[in-house]
Amino acid sequence: MQKEQDVTRREFLKTAAAVAAATTLPSAGAPAILSAQSLSNPVRYGVIGTGTEGCTLLRFLTTIPEGRCIATCDIYPPNLKKGVETIGTNPETYEDYRKMLERKDLDAVLIATPLNLHAQMVLDALSAGKQVFVEKTMYFKEEEGDQIRKASAEHPKQVLQVGLQRRSSLLYQVGMEMIRKGALGKIMFVRAQWHRNNNWRRPVPDPKYERLINWRMYKEYSGGLLAELASHQVDVANWAIGSEPVSVVATGGIDYWKDGRETCDNVQAIYEYPGGQKLLWSSILYNAHLEFDEQIMGDRGTLIITLGKGMYYREAVAKVSSSNSKENWWAGATVTSLAPQEGIPIFPERGANGEIGFVDREVRYAKRWLASMGIYSYEEPHDPWWTEMYNFMLSVRDGKPVIAPLEIGVADARGVIYGNRAVETGQKVFWPKAQPLKET
Ligand SMILES: NC(=O)c1ccc[n+]([C@@H]2O[C@H](COP(=O)([O-])OP(=O)(O)OC[C@H]3O[C@@H](n4cnc5c(N)ncnc54)[C@H](O)[C@@H]3O)[C@@H](O)[C@H]2O)c1
Repeated sequence: MQKEQDVTRREFLKTAAAVAAATTLPSAGAPAILSAQSLSNPVRYGVIGTGTEGCTLLRFLTTIPEGRCIATCDIYPPNLKKGVETIGTNPETYEDYRKMLERKDLDAVLIATPLNLHAQMVLDALSAGKQVFVEKTMYFKEEEGDQIRKASAEHPKQVLQVGLQRRSSLLYQVGMEMIRKGALGKIMFVRAQWHRNNNWRRPVPDPKYERLINWRMYKEYSGGLLAELASHQVDVANWAIGSEPVSVVATGGIDYWKDGRETCDNVQAIYEYPGGQKLLWSSILYNAHLEFDEQIMGDRGTLIITLGKGMYYREAVAKVSSSNSKENWWAGATVTSLAPQEGIPIFPERGANGEIGFVDREVRYAKRWLASMGIYSYEEPHDPWWTEMYNFMLSVRDGKPVIAPLEIGVADARGVIYGNRAVETGQKVFWPKAQPLKET
C-alpha cells in the first residue's frame, strides 16, 4: 500500500518537474544578472501614494538597483515622510502628483493611492510620457476601462503594469502550468475566500483624517471587499480558467460591523465562466478560520494555493476504468483507490517554531526528486512583490513583456465592478462580452 502511494507520488513529481522545466519563469536571480548598465543608468521613478502598499513596494525597491526613486508624492505628511525614510534615496517630495509628472527626468511612476484616484493618475501619467505601474484594482468605474485602453493605445511604447503580484509568483506560475498540462484535469470550479476577524479599520489620529485613512469604508473611494480582496482571487480564477466570467450573482451586507461604514463587511459571489465553470467567492470580517486561499478544482485533482503555499490533491475516485490502471495514474483505479488524499506540497510551508512536520518531510522528499532533475528549486527565489517590481523595471528598461498587462487588469476590474453591481442591485449581472485572456 505504501509502495503504491509512493509510485503515485513519484509520477506526480515527474509531472511537476516536467511542468517546471516547461515553465517560463522570471529570471529572478537578480543579483547574478545585475549589470553595470543597471547601476549607471537606472530607471528613474516616482511613487504616488506612500501609504501601506506604497511603502511595501518601496521596501522591495530598495534592493532593485535597476531603478532609482527620485520622487515621492503623498497628501498626508506622515505617510510622505514614511515613504522617504523607507526608500532612503532622498527623493524630492510632492503633494501634487501633477507637479511630479512635469519632471522631464522621471521615467516611470508607481501609483498606490485609493482606488477612486487610480484611473485619472494613470491617464495623466501616460499623457506625461511616463511608464506606469498601478496597484490593483486598476480602475474604479466601468467607463474608466475604455479611457485607459484608449490612452494606452495612444502611447504604445509606454509600459502599463497592474499590481496583481500573484502573476509574479513562481508558485502560481508553476500551478498554472500544472493546470495547462492537465494535472487537474478539466477545471470546472474555483472556490476562494478571504476571511478575517477584525473591523478592517485603521487607527485615525484625528477625526478629520477618517475618510483619507479609512477610505476603504466609503463608497466614494472604494469598491470594498471585492476591490481590495477579490481582485487578487478573481484574477487567479481568470488565469486558471483562461477567460473572464460571463455573469455574476452576489449578495453582501453591513451585518456585523455597524459602525458607520458604507462598504459591506461580508460578500458572497458566484461568477460563471463561458464553459459553465464557477468561481464561488466569499469574504467575511468576523471569522478568520479559513483565512485566504484559492482552491482550483478539476475532475482529476485540486490545487489549493496562496502566496507562499501550494498543495496538490489527486482525485481518489477512479473516473475511468482501464486494464492498464497501474500505468494510468490519473484514473488510479488500482494504484490509488484506497490511498488517502494526503496532498503533495507544491511549495514549502515552514512551522513558525521550526518544527519538522508532515509538510516539511513531504517537501524534503519532493525537493529531492525535483532537484535531482536539476530544473526546479522549491524556494520561491524572491518574494512575489519583489519580482513584480523587478519585472516592472525590466519592462521599462529592456522592453520585457509586461507580467500583468492592461487586459489582465481590465478583466480583473470588470470582475470587481460587476460583482459590486450584483450586490447593490440584487440582480444577476452579465458581461458585455467575455474575453479570452492573453496571459502576458
Ligand atoms: N497588491 C496588494 O497586495 C495590495 C495590498 C494593499 C493595498 N493595495 C492597493 O494599494 C492601493 C493603496 O492601498 P493602501 O493600503 O496603501 O492605502 P493607504 O491608505 O495606506 O495609502 C494610500 C496613500 O495614498 C495617499 N493619497 C491619497 N490621495 C492622494 C493624492 N491625491 N495624491 C497623492 N497621495 C494620495 C494617502 O495619503 C495614503 O498615504 C489600493 O489600490 C490598494 O488596493 C494592494
